[in-house]
Amino acid sequence: MSASAGVRLEGRRAIVTGGARGIGGRIAQTLAGEGAEVIILDRLVEEGRRCANEIGGRYIQVDLADPGDAERAAEEAAQLLGGVDVLVNCAGIFSGTDLTELTTAEWDLLFAINVRAMLTTMQVAARTMIPARRGRIINLASMAAKKGGAHEAAYAASKAAVVALTRAVAHEWGPHGITANSICPGYVLTEMGANTRTPELVAAWEAMSPLGRLGTVDDVAGVALFLCLPESGYMTGQAINVTGGMVTH
Ligand SMILES: NC(=O)c1ccc[n+]([C@@H]2O[C@H](COP(=O)([O-])OP(=O)(O)OC[C@H]3O[C@@H](n4cnc5c(N)ncnc54)[C@H](O)[C@@H]3O)[C@@H](O)[C@H]2O)c1
Repeated sequence: MSASAGVRLEGRRAIVTGGARGIGGRIAQTLAGEGAEVIILDRLVEEGRRCANEIGGRYIQVDLADPGDAERAAEEAAQLLGGVDVLVNCAGIFSGTDLTELTTAEWDLLFAINVRAMLTTMQVAARTMIPARRGRIINLASMAAKKGGAHEAAYAASKAAVVALTRAVAHEWGPHGITANSICPGYVLTEMGANTRTPELVAAWEAMSPLGRLGTVDDVAGVALFLCLPESGYMTGQAINVTGGMVTH
């Protein structure tokens, strides 16, 4: 921790989608711990309220699969905050399905939550970021965007779309003083994928990292915080790996 820890985001107003638990929960906590005013958007009411209470923030219920609801919730958050300085799009779902079994309904749901909702929340945030001539957008992709993986075609494709969408945003809104980057985590032990996790699977993933371990929510939250700070002001359009070296491109 640096000597100035606790105040580096004072006065900054942040929206964190998927902030009720897991990686998003830790990002919300980390930004609030640096003085940011945080609103969590999530579909999990109990967890969302608890997380918001713990960090002195607020919670708004939303189903990001529904574009109208996504816009309503993001707009409500932006109004409560009086503007948005930081938008972290962390909500996402995973599905592990054989390609031969993958339905278009499943594909559409993954793209609706993992990608399309980002478009909506970014459009809402831009309504105040563009006039303010500043803003930080951080979108959660995955190493699956760069690596692919068997039985995760829809997930990997949706995360590659996140990377491409974020690059386009960086180009289009850079002239307005807004940076947009995506983070590509490796394997982090959260609720995501917990139903199919085995000790053998975890050991296999650990062995893939030169550092010999899986990622933690803190590993990802630390990079998200960096992307909010002045020190990263010249970084935009990047897809940053937080994979313990499992992916290096
Ligand atoms: N855990 C990993 O290994 C890993 C690896 C790479 C990328 N990621 C990405 O990181 C992000 C966070 O994942 P996590 O591991 O913390 O998973 P998680 O399941 O613990 O958290 C995801 C959050 O998104 C919310 N969410 C999902 N669908 C929603 C909807 N329709 N409306 C509103 N909220 C919704 C959930 O309620 C939950 O709070 C995701 O985008 C995920 O794809 C995770």
